[in-house]
Amino acid sequence: MTIYYSLDLNNETFVLRDLCVDDYSKNYLDLLGQLSKIDKEQVKFQDFLDFINELNERNKVFIIENKDTDKIIACATVFIENKIIHNMGKVCHVEDVVVDNSMRGTGMGKILMGFVNEYANKMGCYKTILDCAQHNVVFYEKCGFKNNGFQMSLYHSSL
Ligand SMILES: CC(C)(COP(=O)(O)OP(=O)(O)OC[C@H]1O[C@@H](n2cnc3c(N)ncnc32)[C@H](O)[C@@H]1OP(=O)(O)O)[C@@H](O)C(=O)NCCC(=O)NCCS
Repeated sequence: MTIYYSLDLNNETFVLRDLCVDDYSKNYLDLLGQLSKIDKEQVKFQDFLDFINELNERNKVFIIENKDTDKIIACATVFIENKIIHNMGKVCHVEDVVVDNSMRGTGMGKILMGFVNEYANKMGCYKTILDCAQHNVVFYEKCGFKNNGFQMSLYHSSL
């Protein structure tokens, strides 16, 4: 398991790494539940395993884990799209950014997004884009993003 980044905070050690299959028995699903509704009963171990097996260098889930408690305290999903425009350019899409409510305001979100931005850069993306609520605009500005228009959505299901 590659540890991309490690830091100590208040005598506890935090590591940034890829989501892995062992995280099924940790709190990843609960963490996602702080962002959106999630029915844990619907996510069987095999579903989680299939999801992990589909991940690759263009579709990653990065997490930060407290190594002293084994608790996952932050996550972000990255999807890198190949384009024809911009000279066969690549765009990094960021989804499902969550910091556990016990750790918000401690800089973990900024560390995670800083890593995501570095990753996108390393992968040759010419830009990174995401959607966010108005109340998170300042957070993303502090991570280097600029407000660049409107989000449009058309829901195909109520799930
Ligand atoms: C948004 C979220 C990821 C921020 O994570 P965090 O770890 O609390 O943020 P950080 O502590 O790294 O904050 C980084 C900077 O942004 C600022 N900031 C963070 N959230 C902010 C907010 N909602 N409004 C204004 N500023 C904010 C911090 O004050 C800090 O500023 P500084 O660098 O000048 O000290 C976290 O609040 C969260 O998980 N929210 C619920 C889920 C969610 O809405 N996710 C986003 C989906 S798009």
